[in-house]
Amino acid sequence: MTAQLNPRGDVAVLVPAAGAGVRLGPGAPKALRPLAGEPLLVHAVRRIAAAPSVHTIVVAAPAADVESVRLMLAPVAPVTVVPGGAERQASVAAALAAVPAGPEIVLVHDAARALTPPELVESVAAAVRGGHDGVIPVLPVVDTVKEVDAGERVLGTVDRAALRAVQTPQGFRRSVLTTAHEAAGDPLTDDAGLVEKLGVPVVCVPGSELALKITRPFDLALAEHLLATGA
Ligand code: CTP
Ligand code: MG
Repeated sequence: MTAQLNPRGDVAVLVPAAGAGVRLGPGAPKALRPLAGEPLLVHAVRRIAAAPSVHTIVVAAPAADVESVRLMLAPVAPVTVVPGGAERQASVAAALAAVPAGPEIVLVHDAARALTPPELVESVAAAVRGGHDGVIPVLPVVDTVKEVDAGERVLGTVDRAALRAVQTPQGFRRSVLTTAHEAAGDPLTDDAGLVEKLGVPVVCVPGSELALKITRPFDLALAEHLLATGA
């Protein structure tokens, strides 16, 4: 059944989905690879569409797959699909340019975090609505982290208590994200990094284990298991 988005919602969600998935191994672009019989992107969009504040979803798809992605997502939710770019940052910028007038909160959410619960979309959006211009969901770092040199020699141990592993969706006041992308220089791996460079404060909210990024084959196997056990 096609989800309905909320015409009174105040949130646009950008879904960068144009990556190749090199670390997952040979095959189709990662967002189009199957997880329990459906593409990762379908899982991701279904969960985004279930978040009640969402007004608009814009997907940045691999340029060669824009039409097939439109057809694939039509039964899932009403979405706009645009061609992505060579780097994630370019894909996000392309999706941001396609957001219609209206939503003043913009979330950026990796298609690769296919099992992210709708509640996390809502909690990030709520923190932006509450007055924070930049919001990221985070988890504590569980491993001890070492800094090393080019020869793998240990330079020191980083204080784990002060570190966070960062997930998506990352949420922003729309004008802040637009300014950050206009000012962007070298590509970064997340959008909060661009906002930090503007000097705008970014705050953390609790992330979710289910928002893991499917990067390597192990992650895909874990996601299959999580789905089979009710995620
Ligand atoms: N992404 C994108 N456009 C790119 C590169 C990445 O939209 N040019 C998206 C991916 O589709 C993914 C998200 O950004 O949903 C996070 O990127 P990552 O996990 O690195 O995915 P890939 O780039 O596909 O994987 P890899 O780096 O292993 O090739
Ligand atoms: Mg990548």
